[in-house]
Amino acid sequence: MTTNATLPPRRSGEQPVLEAVNLKINFPVGGGLGKNQVVHALDAASVALTPGKITAVVGESGSGKTTLARLFARMYQPTSGTILLDEVPVDSKKLGRDYNRAVQMVFQDPFGSLNSMKTVRHHLQRPLLIHGHAKRGQAVEQRIHELLEKVKLTPTIDFIDKMPHQLSGGQRQRVSIARALAVEPRVLLADEPISMLDVSMRLDILNLLIELRDVDQLAILYITHDIASARYLADDIHVMYAGQIVESGSAQEVINGPRHPYTRELIGAVPDPDKLRENNLRSSHAERPAPGEPPNLITPPSGCRFTPRCPFATAACSEAFPSATEIGDRHQVACYWVANQKSSSCPDPV
Ligand SMILES: Nc1ncnc2c1ncn2[C@@H]1O[C@H](COP(=O)(O)OP(=O)(O)O)[C@@H](O)[C@H]1O
Ligand SMILES: [Mg+2]
Repeated sequence: MTTNATLPPRRSGEQPVLEAVNLKINFPVGGGLGKNQVVHALDAASVALTPGKITAVVGESGSGKTTLARLFARMYQPTSGTILLDEVPVDSKKLGRDYNRAVQMVFQDPFGSLNSMKTVRHHLQRPLLIHGHAKRGQAVEQRIHELLEKVKLTPTIDFIDKMPHQLSGGQRQRVSIARALAVEPRVLLADEPISMLDVSMRLDILNLLIELRDVDQLAILYITHDIASARYLADDIHVMYAGQIVESGSAQEVINGPRHPYTRELIGAVPDPDKLRENNLRSSHAERPAPGEPPNLITPPSGCRFTPRCPFATAACSEAFPSATEIGDRHQVACYWVANQKSSSCPDPV
């Protein structure tokens, strides 16, 4: 049995604040000999972000994770597909402060994303003034201290006048998160927020994201190549391969019972999930790619892009990307092999 692949899996009764439906983007790149080539970076990606939940997108480098986050941040225009804010399609022409206030992004490189010539106070003051949550003067100053407190840069007086180079990577990432929180967003897009940090600081940042989910009820997109960190904090996981989402579901189901051949390779036979978390949080290259190479996205394989690496591929796999097969509560897998397994294991109707 298949379901409509264009709808992101969601919990019953919960309304996503931000949703990507069938997002696709092709980047034009200069081709040789005057040819116009495109990078097929993302193909029909559907992801729903819900208040009070962390949704992880996990995939190897180059699989399209940052592209998806940037589409959500409206830094790119999709080639096709829709982004919905509170179930209303986002009209790019009417884009303005309301969207930017609701949806904030934290970047991978905390050093690159802060201005090296400006103090912490400057970084936090700006969004407060631009988005009008506080007026100049005492209110702004007080709000800056509250934000520093929120991200655990305390005593706040020790941090407010620091320059980025006087902070550790973890502290800089906290400033980036505080800056995003300054506009009181409902959605936080976190693109590999711990991958450039020292191991000792990673867990603290993950725990901060968990607090923002649980206390502030933010809807958080957590982008990572590291399945162990996704397991640690995510409620839901989407597995991305070469621009296609191949499996989605609750973090527990996807990690404990992966069904797509790629997810199974990615996760591997892991006897002790806690050990996996521990090991992977200590390693900056925790991804575990399947044997072979991801495809060139200028000329990707047709249909399912995992086909050339897949031990179970058949002719159908190259014809069209399979629609999602529902195999559990919100657990969806885009795979003909999984769909066939499911239908052959169904009892015959009496
Ligand atoms: N602005 C761009 N122009 C052309 N190609 C791009 C652009 N941004 C990303 N890509 C390509 O799209 C693919 C996905 O990139 P990206 O989203 O950065 O992957 P990830 O974050 O998973 O490592 C890669 O092949 C990358 O080279
Ligand atoms: Mg990236």
